Amino acid sequence: MKAIIPTGGRGTRMRPLTFSANKHFIPVANKPLIFYPIETIADCGIKEIAITYNSEGLTEAKSFLGDGSRWGLKFSYILQEQPLGLANIFQVCEEYLNGEEFVLHLGDNIFIDGIKNFVDHFLRERPNGLVPMVHHKENTRLGVPYFDKKGHLIKYVEKPENPPHDFAIPGLYFFDKEVFECFKGKESLKPSSRGEYEISAPFQWLIDHRFRVDVLEYKGVWLDPGKFDDWLEANKFILKTKLKETSESKIDSSSKISGKVSLGKNCTIVNSKINGPSAIGDNVKIIDSEIKSFTSISDNCEVVSSKVENSVLMSGVKIINVKKRPIYESLIGTDTEIIGKDGWGAKTSLFVGEKCKIQL
Ligand code: G1P
Repeated sequence: MKAIIPTGGRGTRMRPLTFSANKHFIPVANKPLIFYPIETIADCGIKEIAITYNSEGLTEAKSFLGDGSRWGLKFSYILQEQPLGLANIFQVCEEYLNGEEFVLHLGDNIFIDGIKNFVDHFLRERPNGLVPMVHHKENTRLGVPYFDKKGHLIKYVEKPENPPHDFAIPGLYFFDKEVFECFKGKESLKPSSRGEYEISAPFQWLIDHRFRVDVLEYKGVWLDPGKFDDWLEANKFILKTKLKETSESKIDSSSKISGKVSLGKNCTIVNSKINGPSAIGDNVKIIDSEIKSFTSISDNCEVVSSKVENSVLMSGVKIINVKKRPIYESLIGTDTEIIGKDGWGAKTSLFVGEKCKIQL
């Protein structure tokens, strides 16, 4: 079995960050988001992954992911020329798959408890398609399975207005080679009204052509950090449940670390408090500051005379003199500087791009 992970999406729900960054490489608990699906797939014993990319994405994807050997995997990079939807992603991989069954794992979904059950079910039972389903309150923005009275899957609807229950289909899809028939002949799939080959379409095609599509409930924790608040939630959850305590730098005698903290190499920690769970990357300076729980600070950041809590700082961020109103529930992009100007007559000076969110 092979796997596919796409990296080409536009990440519209994560703007403005995604105007300049690919969301798959934005960190969750100091690890690029896409590393989670890669590790999930590696844990199932699958060895080969196709990384699909859009026409601008190859250099960045390769620089983050390499050839896969650091996970004991073999990566192949495959171009998805046009943003034609999730079903088009495996369509462009047909030659690479060479008749093998495969799993398409969206690069922005995290299955905390692994997907081995699904891989085993698919290889043992040999259906033509398989999807997990999860209970999810906001399923109007997700794929939703519809069943007949006997519990057989009869419809797979993308983002329905009035779903009949709270089940949703997350970003994990299994197929065997039969699915490629849906792109051939007179009855081949047509793009949806938004011009995309939706992922629901090949499943619906298989159901309508009497192929076997199984649905299994995923009983573990599924995270979908597709938008700002879900990103912070995912960061918090992973720091709380998965963080490994490390201490690769010394702190000075007037600093204190409490709770679970991972502290990277070559950091300078002076007269500061760090509360876990929090993750601090390499070459980070924290001076006269307080880092509170659920904070992830990437490499090369500086926090001076400031308080930060429940936030994600991408690399190179500087936060200086921001104490009166601490940085709280924030996701701050690479090389951003936030400088507090306290005192009588203090003003707020902003240099911000499109679609930013600022709470003062
Ligand atoms: C995509 C799929 C949707 C699925 C979701 C899971 O939606 O189209 O069926 O439930 O991923 O993350 P998107 O996040 O691209 O809107």
